[in-house]
Amino acid sequence: MPDLSQTPHRITTTMQLTIPGTSVRPQVDPFKMQLLKWIGNKQRFAHEIASYFPPDFRNYIEPFLGSGAVLSTLAPAHAIASDTFAPLMEIWTTLQTSPETLGAWYRERYEAMAAGDKVEVYERIKASYNQDPNGADLLYLCRSCYGGVVRFRKSDGYMSTPCGVHNPISPESFDMRVQEWHRRTAGTTFITADFEETMEMAQPGDIVYCDPPYTHSQAILYGAQEFDLRRLFEAIARCKDRGVYVALSIDGKKKSGDILCDLPIPDGLFEEEAFVNCGRSMLRRFQMQGESLEAEVVADRLLLTY
Ligand SMILES: C[S@@+](CC[C@H](N)C(=O)[O-])C[C@H]1O[C@@H](n2cnc3c(N)ncnc32)[C@H](O)[C@@H]1O
Repeated sequence: MPDLSQTPHRITTTMQLTIPGTSVRPQVDPFKMQLLKWIGNKQRFAHEIASYFPPDFRNYIEPFLGSGAVLSTLAPAHAIASDTFAPLMEIWTTLQTSPETLGAWYRERYEAMAAGDKVEVYERIKASYNQDPNGADLLYLCRSCYGGVVRFRKSDGYMSTPCGVHNPISPESFDMRVQEWHRRTAGTTFITADFEETMEMAQPGDIVYCDPPYTHSQAILYGAQEFDLRRLFEAIARCKDRGVYVALSIDGKKKSGDILCDLPIPDGLFEEEAFVNCGRSMLRRFQMQGESLEAEVVADRLLLTY
């Protein structure tokens, strides 16, 4: 069990934000420097999501970490962050224990690509990942794959995205990001765990931010894991019962105004609903081998238990 704080965390704020119909909430400063490319990444509007968190909370808990957009934007003093996807968590634990190793992983692959045939080297890295899924290869693949969309074959979890047309950022730029992210996550305990295990660690006064895989098309993402929303709603209800605040990003509004998923949201579980503006399509158009990840999400739906 990580050593959690008993002293309240106050969101660092430069301004106050008034949200119609609610109390005054703190505004969190934007932090838009992505470390990893990950589908569903919320870096561009993570500060808006965090502005809906209670102004005072004890520990920050993020059980569906992905590329850590909200965690890095909030930079909490005490946090637990987890994901079930082990190669991804290997990246986060290495960021914390040995940031220079993360830089070296990236540089080695970047230089190999620059010195040889780009696609051939990319395919070699992909083959190495698929033979033995690991953080070092995944880190480079997510920065260099087509559209930044790391996809996995549903049948066996094989990473299938082809090489991107863009040039990945330089090792110097990557090192700079690593340093900043290392600083921002210094108070975080990273664990590889199912969301339920992490949420059970939350204590009264903590805030849990959930960003689960939610649309049908996401079945081919995140290592092709299955996901059961009802189990999540039950875990949220248990948190709420013991005085833990929970914020849930659940689906989005399309340009048409339609809500993406028609979800059976339990009555009485949430006290407030907000739509956070994403500005433009959250998922890129990406069509290959009959699989489509297209969605014109323009607003992210946030449900709050408080
Ligand atoms: C929508 S993404 C999170 C994106 C994140 N907010 C960001 O900004 O990058 C959902 C994440 O949940 C993880 N996940 C899927 N099933 C899970 C489970 N049962 N427990 C914990 N994490 C899970 C996936 O590996 C994926 O990284």
